[in-house]
Amino acid sequence: MARPQSRYVCQACGTSHLRWEGQCRGCSAWDTLVETLVQASPERGARRAAVAREGVAPQSLASLSSVDVERRPTGLGEFDRVLGGGLVPGCIILLGGEPGIGKSTLVLEAAAGVAARGGPDGLAVLYASGEESVGQLRLRAARLGLLDGPAGGAVSVLAETDVERIVEAARGAAPRLLIVDSVQTVTHEGLEGPAGSVGQVREAAARLADFAKSTGTPVLLVGHVTKDGSLAGPKALEHLVDVVLALEGDRYGPLRILRAAKNRFGSTEEVGVFEMAGSGLAEVADPARAFLSDGTQSAPGSVVAATLEGSRPLLVEVQALVAPATAGNPRRTVGGLDPNRLALLVAVLGRRAGIAIATHDLYASLVGGVSVAEPALDLPLALALTSSHRDRPVARGTVACGEVGLLGELRPVAGLERRLREAARLGFGRAVVPAGSARDRPPVVEGLEIVAVGTLREALGAALDL
Ligand code: TYD
Ligand code: MG
Repeated sequence: MARPQSRYVCQACGTSHLRWEGQCRGCSAWDTLVETLVQASPERGARRAAVAREGVAPQSLASLSSVDVERRPTGLGEFDRVLGGGLVPGCIILLGGEPGIGKSTLVLEAAAGVAARGGPDGLAVLYASGEESVGQLRLRAARLGLLDGPAGGAVSVLAETDVERIVEAARGAAPRLLIVDSVQTVTHEGLEGPAGSVGQVREAAARLADFAKSTGTPVLLVGHVTKDGSLAGPKALEHLVDVVLALEGDRYGPLRILRAAKNRFGSTEEVGVFEMAGSGLAEVADPARAFLSDGTQSAPGSVVAATLEGSRPLLVEVQALVAPATAGNPRRTVGGLDPNRLALLVAVLGRRAGIAIATHDLYASLVGGVSVAEPALDLPLALALTSSHRDRPVARGTVACGEVGLLGELRPVAGLERRLREAARLGFGRAVVPAGSARDRPPVVEGLEIVAVGTLREALGAALDL
């Protein structure tokens, strides 16, 4: 039998075991062993040798040479926006998302974009796929209309799951972008664990990161994440990669949001909005409007929130349903919202505004499968809950935003003017916003009646006539 090349190392105390065990013998922690390669990769060995030859000397901050990060746009506007301008040489990007959300479609479109932008001769993109057969990839490419374009010739597909062979092929072909779909299917032959195990995923990503850094080739990894984001694989990779992108949305609806959860080369605040159509993910012409449902604005329980994602104002419809609880504990179900915020608002509504809904079943969600975490959503959510409870609609053409404090006071939100301008542009006529202090009075926006209120109670009065 060949000498085992791997050990199982406890992630808590570092004790190394020959075989996998449920509990570490060193520190008695459960389920902390991860399979790890014994020999370092040749690249890492080479790097260590180079360091030993040349030595490393610390440099003062001021003496560091300023190298501008060169960005190469993929040509896929929303994707570039989230990356902070484009691909950076040698960067390693992890694109996570639930199965079926559109990751493969997005990376194939990015590949086509890179191919279409031209550049030095040779291969533009190497797409290593362990998920799908070459035939399936061809079908998708045909569906996206890429076969006859520049991508047809400049994107090469490799059906391979062995990370060493992928790296070898990439070294040979020297593409401008390497895509690996998905990291959960890639294995290293020195490890015994199944594809997708933490050890395998981590080793594969480390090898690909070495390749990216040593050749300056951007590498785009696809990773599956389950609904609660719990799958160990991609989570374990986050510190290894430069950029973590998440593709979100309601699988059964058309809209998709691309966010950066981490970005060493840009902001993590920008979002990209796409629409899944018959011929791939298309950029949405007017993202600010995308998360509004048509014509239901005056129904009880629906309120439009003026939110801000990075520098992009998005108007999002909040829907709530408050119903008498049938039995036992009341249900609280949220979609795209923070359940803790909901609990807090229910308490504040009850204590500070006389709206007693704590014993009711509560459902609240955002239209279009978007999720928003900013506090400016407090007021619209509180209004939607009250509107549903009292069965009283908020007047059509009204938007709201504002953070709600524990005393029932409203706190100002960042970027109010930008939110309100966008609302006015989309034809809204009235905005209920926090009054703020003398320093941050709400701005004047043409065509928009601005109702500035100091407390939640006042806001309920202004929006619902309560
Ligand atoms: P896919 O990119 O395969 O998702 P992932 O790689 O994240 O698992 O796409 C998933 C879904 O998108 C698939 O169910 C079909 C749909 N789809 C379209 O609606 N239009 C298209 O043009 C394509 C390529 C896919
Ligand atoms: Mg896929």
